[in-house]
Amino acid sequence: MCGIVGYVGTRKATDVCVAGLKRLEYRGYDSAGIAVVEDGKLEVVKVVGKLRNLSEALEETPLEGTLGIGHTRWATHGKPSKINSHPHVSNDGRIALVHNGIIENYAELRDELKQEGFEFVSETDTEVIVHLVARYYEGDLAAAFRRAARDLEGAFAVGIVSADHPGQMVAARRFSPLVVGIGAGENFIASDMGAVREWTDQVYVIEDDEMAVITRDGIELTDFEGKPVHHEPYTIPWPAEAAQKGGHKHFMHKEIHEQPRAMRECLLGRLTDAEKSITLEGLNMTEEEIKRLRKVVFTACGTAFHAGLVGRFLMEKLARIPAECDLAAELRARDPVVLEDTLAIVVSQSGETADTLVALRELKEKGASVVSVVNVVDSSIARESDGVVYIQAGPEIGVASTKAYTLQILTIALIAAHFADVRGAASEHELIELRRAMLSLPEQAQTLLDREDEVKAVAARYYDSHNSLYLGRGVNLPSAMEGALKLKEISYVHAEGYSAGEMKHGPIALVERSLFTVAIAVKGDVYDKMIGNIQEIKARSGPVIGVAFDGDTEIPRQADDVLWVPPCPELLTPITVAIPLQILAYHIADMLGREIDQPRNLAKTVTVE
Ligand code: AGP
Repeated sequence: MCGIVGYVGTRKATDVCVAGLKRLEYRGYDSAGIAVVEDGKLEVVKVVGKLRNLSEALEETPLEGTLGIGHTRWATHGKPSKINSHPHVSNDGRIALVHNGIIENYAELRDELKQEGFEFVSETDTEVIVHLVARYYEGDLAAAFRRAARDLEGAFAVGIVSADHPGQMVAARRFSPLVVGIGAGENFIASDMGAVREWTDQVYVIEDDEMAVITRDGIELTDFEGKPVHHEPYTIPWPAEAAQKGGHKHFMHKEIHEQPRAMRECLLGRLTDAEKSITLEGLNMTEEEIKRLRKVVFTACGTAFHAGLVGRFLMEKLARIPAECDLAAELRARDPVVLEDTLAIVVSQSGETADTLVALRELKEKGASVVSVVNVVDSSIARESDGVVYIQAGPEIGVASTKAYTLQILTIALIAAHFADVRGAASEHELIELRRAMLSLPEQAQTLLDREDEVKAVAARYYDSHNSLYLGRGVNLPSAMEGALKLKEISYVHAEGYSAGEMKHGPIALVERSLFTVAIAVKGDVYDKMIGNIQEIKARSGPVIGVAFDGDTEIPRQADDVLWVPPCPELLTPITVAIPLQILAYHIADMLGREIDQPRNLAKTVTVE
């Protein structure tokens, strides 16, 4: 997830673009750049690192000019570096382009363009777009992009300028967000409204396969065939300072709501058709190596550990490979025995967690091969792994991990399904059904977000409790642990995730009216047992919030409240169940007035052991 901006008008383009990028820094901050057109020339300044490095570079090399585009990067293809940062420029130095999204067929396009003599300087997928535009450019920039768009597969929001067209900017989108800001004698483009709100509250929210040709006095909206499209200007309802949060009260709330889009981006280029096998660039394992695997060991901390626990189920159930999952901090302490042909899957949002990095080194030293499932490209854990499958969640700012968790599980599910396919551990029909279910997760996530008010009403009934139990069994024991972690870390209400099967061995002594229990009882292997657990708690006057599949008639009879989730294969329910539990924790914490994005005593990344 990156941020793009563009400006054409009477102000200094770099001033507007840098200010706009500052509002978009939450979308990515590993490198940044700006291109400006002035006096028939295109000038570009790019830096690696934070946006302030770009401001410093522009002080040393000021760019004059009132037409420009800018970009702040969240690396997906190609590590964070100056050469990989945007804008990318055509070989003749006349066209510059910024991009947010993922071009799925960039590798074949790159080969094709190289054979035609185009020279590539970066490792990015984006660079193929600017060379495609140059390939088709015959004096009309918009027409050249329209032709290039026919070759592109995947997601993009682009801004394009050319030294041949002073005063004109071209913008277009497919699956990645883009708005066109409407000013007086000036116009803007940006990845989201917050980046232009300082100068205007009027925007066009253009739709997929639509584009805009923009000058300081006009905005022409068309589809990719050049046919005019009409949109009413939208008035941005909130002030500029709410920008980075896109109108959300907290980053955590925003990131909970980003999950449908983030899931789509996680699947892009890997799984697009249930009938086709999964492809995992970066896994770096041959089919032979996958077939030879005798054990998989997951290791991680906190929320990522809970994703690893789900991963253990997925690996054993789908790929039929013996699997275990250990807390990174504990793994080293037990001096593990690592068998030959063992794969370590190391899970981490930041890719910098010290305990997890130490555990990775321990397992590697003992002979395991290592694949990491991380969010931050080129992070320490990614760099020390033999293979990396990025979750592509975009930056996660809130300390409480939400979208990273569901995408870690989704990414591990992709790996497990791929292994099952290669090892013949599942039938073609089973694999197609599973892949189809995975493809419907973004839509199911949106359905769950649309129910937020129902969950908020439940939160209002329990927010003044001081103690809670989250119960689950099987693949949803990790869901219970994760739900409890979400609540305790942002609301400071004590919450314990526990095996429902273990209640009778002690914790049931805790049950009383003042302690609420969340019981995860979606249909599956352990459903009947979960009903038994709910009845045991109710018999002792403990209030119960059930988590159940839509249409379930038994759980509403047994529990005091129900959080509903759409049905999906039980193995994937940790992804859907997580969302109402994230929302429940969020609203309880909000009702308690907590510092949700920066809870006390916590840091987003724990780089100390
Ligand atoms: C989760 O909400 C917490 N912020 C914390 O448990 C986190 O998951 C843990 O510190 C691991 O971080 P990582 O995924 O960046 O390695």
